[in-house]
Amino acid sequence: MTAKLNARGDVAVLVPAAGAGVRLGPGGPKALRLLAGEPLLVHAIRRVAASPSVRLIVVAAPAAEVEAVQALLAPVAPVTVVAGGAERQESVGRALAVVPPEIDIVLVHDAARALTPPEIVESVAAAVRAGHPAVIPVLPVVDTIKEVDPGETVLGTVDRSVLRSVQTPQGFRHSVLAAAHASAADPLTDDAGLVEKAGLPVTCIPGSDLALKITRPLDLVLAEALLQLP
Ligand code: CTP
Ligand code: MG
Repeated sequence: MTAKLNARGDVAVLVPAAGAGVRLGPGGPKALRLLAGEPLLVHAIRRVAASPSVRLIVVAAPAAEVEAVQALLAPVAPVTVVAGGAERQESVGRALAVVPPEIDIVLVHDAARALTPPEIVESVAAAVRAGHPAVIPVLPVVDTIKEVDPGETVLGTVDRSVLRSVQTPQGFRHSVLAAAHASAADPLTDDAGLVEKAGLPVTCIPGSDLALKITRPLDLVLAEALLQLP
């Protein structure tokens, strides 16, 4: 059974939220860790649900927390909650499995990118709707990037102008994402990588500084500060 958000929407958003949050340090699953008094997952879902294109939200929760996450999100937005897997890709696959075939556009978002504005969800969905089979929000790379050998000696400087930092939500034609997942051999950290391997074009659109992935303790401090911005 799937909980519908906006009957006029044409987009399903999958939100993998089953990770442990090891890099954030001790304190339980990352999606349930607090930011300004609320779990990261609540921040993320509130913003996704504010996007008018979104019809269905599927959250992949830590297996032991499915009922707790259902209860947590019930007052925030109608969501379907499934048990996540051991790898992010497995969590995405389990969420994808409950998306009905009539929904044509599927976005995959990280609960850890809790402050991603609804406008980014909309612009990714719009680019897929316009005909791109796979769309990713990106930012330019700010640091100088060096390639090194196993002994940490520099082999060369990479041309940063052709590099992009990739965020979520990543958007796909439903059939494209389903085929990519069905044929995936090795686990990848992003879904567009699966589509690239299938030989399809992946289109970049501008991302947002607010879509940072909360990974390490310092990111929580930064996110807390970003929430104070007018
Ligand atoms: N994720 C998931 N299932 C997994 C692993 C990750 O649903 N088995 C989700 C996380 O909950 C997160 C997103 O994928 O929203 C991105 O992963 P990451 O930022 O690496 O989160 P964690 O895996 O929780 O963090 P860490 O790698 O530090 O343990
Ligand atoms: Mg991880």
